[in-house]
Amino acid sequence: MVFTQQSAVSINLVASLLLLGLVNFSIVECRRLASTGSDVTYSAINCRKHTAFLTDFGGKGDGKTSNTLVFRSAIQNLSQFANDGGAQLVLPPGKWLTGSFNLTSHFTLYLQLGAVILASQDEGDYPLIEPLPSYGTGRDGPGGRHNSNPKNYSVYCCFDDFDVVRVICGTEFVICANGTIDGQGSLWWEKFHKKKLKNTRPYLIELMYSKKIQISNLTLIDSPSWFVHPDLTITAPVDSPNTDGIDPDSCKNVKIQDVFIVSGDDCVAVKSGWDEYGIKFNMPTEQIIIRRLTCISPDSAVIALGSEMSGGIKNLRAEDIRAINSESAVRIKTAPGRGAYVKNIFVDGMNLKTMKYVFWATGAYGQHPDPGYDPKALPRVDRINYRNVVAEDVEMAGNMGGIEGDPFTGFCLSNVTIGLAEKHKKLQWNCTDISGVSSGVTPPPCEVLKDKGKMECEYPSEKIPIDMVELKTCSFTSSSQML
Ligand SMILES: *[C@@H]1O[C@H](CO)[C@@H](O)[C@H](O)[C@H]1NC(C)=O
Ligand SMILES: *[C@@H]1O[C@H](CO)[C@@H](O)[C@H](O)[C@H]1NC(C)=O
Ligand SMILES: *[C@@H]1O[C@H](CO)[C@@H](O)[C@H](O)[C@H]1NC(C)=O
Ligand SMILES: *[C@@H]1O[C@H](CO)[C@@H](O)[C@H](O)[C@H]1NC(C)=O
Ligand SMILES: *[C@@H]1O[C@H](CO)[C@@H](O)[C@H](O)[C@H]1NC(C)=O
Ligand SMILES: *[C@@H]1O[C@H](CO)[C@@H](O)[C@H](O)[C@H]1NC(C)=O
Ligand SMILES: *[C@@H]1O[C@H](CO)[C@@H](O)[C@H](O)[C@H]1NC(C)=O
Repeated sequence: MVFTQQSAVSINLVASLLLLGLVNFSIVECRRLASTGSDVTYSAINCRKHTAFLTDFGGKGDGKTSNTLVFRSAIQNLSQFANDGGAQLVLPPGKWLTGSFNLTSHFTLYLQLGAVILASQDEGDYPLIEPLPSYGTGRDGPGGRHNSNPKNYSVYCCFDDFDVVRVICGTEFVICANGTIDGQGSLWWEKFHKKKLKNTRPYLIELMYSKKIQISNLTLIDSPSWFVHPDLTITAPVDSPNTDGIDPDSCKNVKIQDVFIVSGDDCVAVKSGWDEYGIKFNMPTEQIIIRRLTCISPDSAVIALGSEMSGGIKNLRAEDIRAINSESAVRIKTAPGRGAYVKNIFVDGMNLKTMKYVFWATGAYGQHPDPGYDPKALPRVDRINYRNVVAEDVEMAGNMGGIEGDPFTGFCLSNVTIGLAEKHKKLQWNCTDISGVSSGVTPPPCEVLKDKGKMECEYPSEKIPIDMVELKTCSFTSSSQML
């Protein structure tokens, strides 16, 4: 594979993906099956009785004509089938320029191979909406957020080679694709770097208060900000600001699987609201599995837990994780003021190459939405398990600092082999305000991680609910719809 630092890199989700919900989510993997002739077959959580093509509604895939009204009227028209077997809207190959639009329930948006949704580059195409209730304020500035609306949005698309998709209050819809969404984020990154943003940048795909969502095999590039919020697969130049790959935020039952991410920030950032707003919103992220993730994240973590975790993060599994050139592996980020907890975290199997730290925990992350946070709201960090880890070219094995008077407890590290970089730090483990156990760790860890002799850290053997969702085989005939 060839990676570059430029946005032209387009990543194919090797298989598929997952997703989110501020409410009760059920995310599913959508694997593309073989297709013969013009019959397209794919697997999804649900199939649809009715099929339409964007061209039926006058869509033009020339990359220049705006399709905003076409998308809106097509989806409006197809919403009549919500209670009659549902509908799928197919985007044939082409470049479909558009502003934001709403998805609807019992609906599939299918991007054929070569179909690209280009997000409009006009800031005016992104109406301002309220900040997320669990954040209280915008992440980039005091104002609201572009291009979202706390109503029943489904998908927002915007920009000129990629787009922004947003779903709020949807039930049971699917975005299944061989295609791409391009957020054309450079315009926004430039404004961010010049500190010209008064409001939070749009996200590429945002799904809120939705259930039963599937996003599969979609390539997302150049999001203005966080890519999928709770969210998907991705690349961005490594110097783009806060372009986390996938951010499940206050989500339950999420599967992120077979994903390749090159990120200027964390590859996957698991979150649940910010300080007093997140504590009040009180919606944890839980029952998540991240499987076969490959990550390149030179300045950030492969998987970050936090720093916004004020609704709590629990019952997360990560298995078969690979990283090249990343700052740290599964990192805990929190601070006094966050409250809540990070607990029952299970990691099995990491293969890491060229890392600053393998283990990194930070109880002094800082960053607060406003002075109204409660410094006495201390997070509880407990039962954090890592086993079967191989790393090479590492500067420092473990930099683990809890909070004074609020130590992080229950760390377990077993079967960990870390090879050091030529220019490694003299101090390999710095453990402050943490406790736990270890077994078979090289180089030998700090004494507070008590050596237990032969033992394995825990990894649950029962299936996680999201792994039990069964997919159906769906199809349509693309026939004369090709451009
Ligand atoms: C995903 O789409 C790409 C084309 O963009 C295709 O080559 C690949 O086979 C698809 N993956 C799966 C699992 O269907
Ligand atoms: C997806 O793209 C691949 C080529 O990369 C193609 O072989 C396959 O038929 C496409 N699948 C569907 C379902 O369109
Ligand atoms: C939209 O739906 C109506 C039926 O409600 C149908 O008659 C009409 O042809 C549809 N419009 C398009 C452009 O397909
Ligand atoms: C959003 O959709 C739900 C059902 O999915 C409905 O109950 C609710 O009234 C809708 N809200 C708005 C603002 O349209
Ligand atoms: C999306 O739907 C909401 C109502 O649920 C509506 O207020 C809003 O204008 C729609 N947005 C777009 C871009 O169509
Ligand atoms: C230790 O971890 C490595 C890397 O994941 C794995 O190949 C090996 O089988 C593990 N050893 C044991 C005893 O589990
Ligand atoms: C170890 O970590 C603590 C806090 O996490 C920090 O204050 C201290 O400077 C570190 N020590 C070294 C030698 O890096």
